[in-house]
Amino acid sequence: MTELEKILSALGGDDEEIVDYTQMRRDFEEAMMMYAGAIREVRTKLEVLNDEFKIRSRRNPIHYINSRIKTPASILEKMHRRGYPVTMESLRENMHDIAGVRVICAYGSDIYSIAEMLMKQDDVMVLMVKDYIKNPKANGYRSLHLVIEIPVYFSDKKQFLKVEVQIRTMAMDFWASLEHQIRYKTDGKPSEEISNELRECAEIIHDTDAKMERLYTMMQSL
Ligand code: GTP
Ligand code: MG
Repeated sequence: MTELEKILSALGGDDEEIVDYTQMRRDFEEAMMMYAGAIREVRTKLEVLNDEFKIRSRRNPIHYINSRIKTPASILEKMHRRGYPVTMESLRENMHDIAGVRVICAYGSDIYSIAEMLMKQDDVMVLMVKDYIKNPKANGYRSLHLVIEIPVYFSDKKQFLKVEVQIRTMAMDFWASLEHQIRYKTDGKPSEEISNELRECAEIIHDTDAKMERLYTMMQSL
């Protein structure tokens, strides 16, 4: 076990085991503090874009923004699952979803507008784009995923930090939370019947999203 592995196991445990306050523990807490800063930076960028859009178009393209820092237990689980070395360096290099921001939009086209506005900012480096809307996952999952890296300023340094941004419509989000719950309840193996129903729901939701957007466009020209 690496020192970080011991710290992550203890921090993620149910018992209130006291973790030695070693340098590594301080390094981990400092890293989490930095990721929290990165989340705030990204949230602010998104809020600014939303406010501007509101002034121009009299509506909010962003319904709401959710964010989270990955828990120690979940960091450890993913590093093991992927076979990454459990060290601070590997955490910074390999883990792109320690800081996660989820953006829920009204319409499908808002997803791409927001993503483009964010990606073209000077201080945003785009590391990865996964378009699960154009290419839905086999289970029906749809969302636009970005991994970006942004600079965050601290007292004596500028740190580049990765943030995973998931952008989806309210309907896609509704589907994803139910699918997530079902996957959790069934240990990742929902019955064929449930899987089929879920896939069908994803299609219906996708069609409804498209219809709602067409209606919205029609309404604008009234
Ligand atoms: P993870 O190891 O799960 O982080 O996946 P990844 O690094 O290969 O990235 P991917 O872009 O596929 O997924 C990242 C995140 O998107 C996940 O942690 C989930 O939050 C979300 N996600 C991806 N696929 C699904 C899905 O099928 N259902 C739901 N509900 N969420 C999903
Ligand atoms: Mg993840």
